[in-house]
Amino acid sequence: MRSAAEEKAARALLDWYRAMGVDEAVGEVPFDSFAAPQPKPAPRRAPEVKMAAGPPRAAPRAARPISTRGIGAEISTLTELEALVAGFEGCSLRRTAKSLCFARGSASARIMLIGEAPGRDEDLQGKPFVGRAGQLLDRMLAAIGLAEDHVYITNTVYWRPPGNRTPTPEEIEACAPFLARQIELLSPSVLVLLGGAAAKTILGVSEGIMRLRGKWLTYPSAGRDLPALATLHPAYLLRNPAAKRYAWRDLLLLKAALDSEIRGQ
Ligand code: URA
Repeated sequence: MRSAAEEKAARALLDWYRAMGVDEAVGEVPFDSFAAPQPKPAPRRAPEVKMAAGPPRAAPRAARPISTRGIGAEISTLTELEALVAGFEGCSLRRTAKSLCFARGSASARIMLIGEAPGRDEDLQGKPFVGRAGQLLDRMLAAIGLAEDHVYITNTVYWRPPGNRTPTPEEIEACAPFLARQIELLSPSVLVLLGGAAAKTILGVSEGIMRLRGKWLTYPSAGRDLPALATLHPAYLLRNPAAKRYAWRDLLLLKAALDSEIRGQ
C-alpha cells in the first residue's frame, strides 16, 4: 500500500512528465529510474606507468563565493537595488540588450533561484525565465507545489548576451556584487542554482554541475551559511530529457527541506 504522501509525489511526477510531453509508456516492463544504481564491476587496472617526476601539483583552489564588495551597502530594498543596477554602466552587456532583466517572483519568497543569463524572450519582456526554459522551470516548481509567488528568480547577469552566447567571466564579475547584495536583501531560506554556470559563479568553485548537484551546499551571505542546492538547468533538460530524473531527485530534496522547515516552525 502506498502512503498518501507517496501517492501525491507519484502523481506530481506523472503531471510533470505529462507537461513535458510524455504521454505513453514505451517499455514492456516498468523501469524504475529511482532504483539504487547497481554496483559496477571494478574496472581492470591499467598497468602502472612510471612517470618522471613532474612539476609539483597546484593545491586545490579554495572556494571563492561571490560577495558584495561593499556595493549597495547604503540601500535596504530590492527596489532600490534594481534602480542601482539600472544605472550601472560597468557591464558591457547592457549596451546590446533591450531590457534589464532584474528578477521575477515575490520579494518575500523563501526560495531564490538563479540561472545563467537572460535569453531573447527575457530581453523582450524584461524578466528572467519567461521563455521555453522558464515555462519548464515553472512546471518543475509546480510539481512540488511552488507557484511564482513562492519563489524569486534571477540570473548571474542582468542583460542578455548578444546571440545568447555564454556571458564572459568579466561580465559575470561585473554583476556579481549586485547579485550578492540581491541575495542579502532577499534573505531567502534556500538558494537553488540552475546549471553549472550559476553554481560555479555563486559558490566560486570549479567542479562541474554533475558533481555539484543533488546535495546541500552552502553559500556565505550576511554572516550566515545559506543552504544552496545546485541542479540541472531547464534549458539543458529541454535538450536532454533523459536527465529529467536527476532534476526530479533534486526537486524532491528541495521539497523535503521546505517541508521540514515548515514542520520545524
Ligand atoms: N536561461 C537562463 O539561464 N536564464 C533565463 O532567464 C532564461 C534562460
